Amino acid sequence: MIKPIIVGNWKLNGTQESIKIFLNLLNKFLVNYHEKCTVVISLPILYAYLIRNTLLFDNKNFFLGAQNTDNHNSGSFTGEISPIMLKDLGIKYVIIGHSERRFNHNETNRMIANKFFLLKKENLIPILCIGETKQEKLENNTINICKKQIDSIFDICGIQAFNDSIIAYEPVWAIGSEISATPKEAQFIARFIRQYIVSRTNDRIKNFFIQYGGSVTRKNAKNLIKQKDIDGFLLGRSSLQIEEFTKIIEIIHV
Ligand code: PGA
Repeated sequence: MIKPIIVGNWKLNGTQESIKIFLNLLNKFLVNYHEKCTVVISLPILYAYLIRNTLLFDNKNFFLGAQNTDNHNSGSFTGEISPIMLKDLGIKYVIIGHSERRFNHNETNRMIANKFFLLKKENLIPILCIGETKQEKLENNTINICKKQIDSIFDICGIQAFNDSIIAYEPVWAIGSEISATPKEAQFIARFIRQYIVSRTNDRIKNFFIQYGGSVTRKNAKNLIKQKDIDGFLLGRSSLQIEEFTKIIEIIHV
């Protein structure tokens, strides 16, 4: 198995104080996990600068990430943050297309593909979230939805788009709920994603990872990570508690 990658998406949570405490504990914990697992914390981005100044990031497998970016690099876009700015701040991983952005902020596949394009241009690593709603699942539409979300990236970014990138399969119905996909369900879709991308990339894909996200906890992490095509997790709630988060790292490390 390749070295797993675990990303914590903190969403709209945290204060300077709580973030410092959490990241200090995590930094210490990760000393023993140097080569075994890549860990990214996608915190509310305004804290990244403060945190960089107060913490010693001596673990080369520990990164700060962003939860979103604008689909422009500069200009009259009030309130936005661009890929170039994220890069300037030393951010490497950027979540895009999270369902909370798709639904609460009306983000379309095309907008998300434009973000993907700009991130790649800046050599940042997109974490593209894809996945179906409950209704789409009931209508047996999961594969079609995922395919469409992936196709829009190929359309704008070309066949090499997914080199050095991550897709997080996050069924919308599993996010923030108590129900995760079963390991079998998650593996089935992850396998489809890998095969589809490899088939369109003419087999020349490198540094491509598939994560599962949606109600991952210490209870289900082990069986999910055992699945052949799942290379890591995108965690929401479980990344907010240091104990739960580090427990999951312990469970999934190689
Ligand atoms: P959850 O959120 O782990 O709290 O279900 C996952 C996500 O939103 O990425």
